[in-house]
Amino acid sequence: MNLENEGLLQATRTKSEFIMAMSHELRTPLNSIIGFSDVLRRKDIGELNDLQEKYIDNIHLSGKNLLMIINDILDLSKVEADKIDLYIEKMSLSEIIDISISLIKDIAKQKNIQTIKELDPGSDILEADKDRIRQILFNILNNAVKFSKPEGKVTITSRKEGDYIQISVIDNGIGIKEEDIGKLFKEFEQLDKGISRNYGGAGLGLIISKKLIELHGGRIWLQSKYGEGTTFTFTLPLKSTFVPIKEKND
Ligand SMILES: Nc1ncnc2c1ncn2[C@@H]1O[C@H](COP(=O)(O)OP(=O)(O)O)[C@@H](O)[C@H]1O
Ligand SMILES: [Mg+2]
Repeated sequence: MNLENEGLLQATRTKSEFIMAMSHELRTPLNSIIGFSDVLRRKDIGELNDLQEKYIDNIHLSGKNLLMIINDILDLSKVEADKIDLYIEKMSLSEIIDISISLIKDIAKQKNIQTIKELDPGSDILEADKDRIRQILFNILNNAVKFSKPEGKVTITSRKEGDYIQISVIDNGIGIKEEDIGKLFKEFEQLDKGISRNYGGAGLGLIISKKLIELHGGRIWLQSKYGEGTTFTFTLPLKSTFVPIKEKND
């Protein structure tokens, strides 16, 4: 390795160590904010008037959004520094899709958005990291609902394609302009800051999802028509070829 590359590698390592330490320091007080605002909003220790209830809900939601952003920054720095290990096991895609749908059901309900699941037989059991697949699905489903108009529809399909499972999330939301498609998998990239800011998020979901999918040995792409809707599709190998970090270094 030449000196320049070595310097770059060292800089990336220092950056990711700094971010890991910082996120720990930020998460500790943030967990108090989330935890204590939750106790108050549950009214276990006393009634609240309408305004107090509104403010406490706001503190709680903002805290949770901030925690999500910190977790995303931490994840991004880990994937950049090759520090993410996958815990590969046999898992049911259908089960993880159900869990991911349940995580977004509140915002889907608020906007009256229907979620539909259409899984082909033979596309359920695969070898992958359950938590990471849930994270990927949550990111993509959350976007689909977030960028849908009220009364919209979000469909999740899966089918077997050779040695891979191919999963699509289809929405009939705001869509993406052709010239913007290339920007999506870059960090902190949000096409409409106005819309995004209303719903939280830091523009890291897609880049992290892409890296996690590629770590599994799959790939992700999208098709979109501005004003009509978007389809995100990704593949995952049925049999994992992932080599854990420990074995790689042996
Ligand atoms: N289903 C979708 N429909 C329209 N735009 C989308 C969709 N998914 C993602 N985008 C665009 O890609 C951007 C980046 O997405 P993401 O990385 O998940 O960040 P975030 O959700 O925090 O904004 C979004 O801000 C949005 O502009
Ligand atoms: Mg997102």
